[in-house]
Amino acid sequence: MIGADTEFKEDKIISPKSLKEIRRPIDSDLKEFQAYYKKALKTDVFLLNQIVNYLLRMKGKEMRPILVLLSARLCGNIGQSTFTAATMIELLHTATLIHDDVVDEADQRRGFFSINKIWKNKASVLLGDYLLSKGLLVALDNDEFALLKVLSNAVKRMSEGELRQLKASKLLNMTEEKYFKIISEKTASLLSACCKCGAISATDDTEKHETLEKVGEHLGIAFQIRDDLFDYGADDIGKPTGNDIKERKITLPMIAALDRSGILERRKLIRLFGKRSKTRKEVNEIIRLVNEKGGLEYARQHMNTHTRTARYLLERFPDSPERQNMLDFIDFVITRKK
Ligand code: IPE
Ligand code: IPE
Ligand code: MG
Ligand code: MG
Repeated sequence: MIGADTEFKEDKIISPKSLKEIRRPIDSDLKEFQAYYKKALKTDVFLLNQIVNYLLRMKGKEMRPILVLLSARLCGNIGQSTFTAATMIELLHTATLIHDDVVDEADQRRGFFSINKIWKNKASVLLGDYLLSKGLLVALDNDEFALLKVLSNAVKRMSEGELRQLKASKLLNMTEEKYFKIISEKTASLLSACCKCGAISATDDTEKHETLEKVGEHLGIAFQIRDDLFDYGADDIGKPTGNDIKERKITLPMIAALDRSGILERRKLIRLFGKRSKTRKEVNEIIRLVNEKGGLEYARQHMNTHTRTARYLLERFPDSPERQNMLDFIDFVITRKK
């Protein structure tokens, strides 16, 4: 249990592990997961085959399956249920990304053209639906009702988050409170489900399920803040940057910058940000202003607070290589370059 005198680890992460290093202890399990995933995607529907093959080439970082595996290891052993959970989650995640790129009108994903860029919106919506249903069916095929319950709930919350965000950005009325609600729903819900499902697959200890659920929630919030910070950067991350700004999606750096601006500065920022079509120069000007007002720094601080809480919660587990792997994963989430 948490002791009152437990000290927080320093935020400054000296030499974070690379994703390759984080994957190493679970390398063979990840290979096994990939085989399950490929099998789940296999289809004899001719029309789908072409897109599915493309999807299999555009692999992501697989952070969610990694998180499922690490959580299972922390609670016990990886088994068939763990692979079922990881497969379901990566299917659901991929489905929501395909839908998200339609909603965000993004033309790149994972360093490739997005599905909507190649096959257009209609096919993308249908493919996303197909993957969502496939994801949930994997649980039924394996009689995994506990996993199904957790993940159905996560999918519901993700949709709520995406809808809430759509409404808030249409009306240009976002608050910090609303932002945190949105990212908790659209992103943290699934990362939290990764941790919880990993735990469920390895132990019956409900206290552990609950602790890991919370770890995933805080980690997920930090993960999305990191992602929102990418949009204000210039790095090649395999998907467009500046897109949130173009699409008038208000995220934490912007909220903080607006809160810290005087009336005139605020007006200028809102006028620029509210433009329906922006040149790259205008986008860069917005980034400069947000940075000047300390918006990026403010977002970083919030990100650090959440990973600190996640680390703190993990102290309920005894020190072990498995716990260290989780801590390394947390460090990676906020230091990652894509
Ligand atoms: C992107 O998630 C969607 C967000 C919740 C920000 P990832 O960055 O994990 O995407 P992939 O799977 O590696 O492409
Ligand atoms: C992530 O949302 C998608 C979901 C969580 C459903 P974003 O729109 O913020 O993520 P990216 O930047 O496109 O990956
Ligand atoms: Mg989006
Ligand atoms: Mg998007």
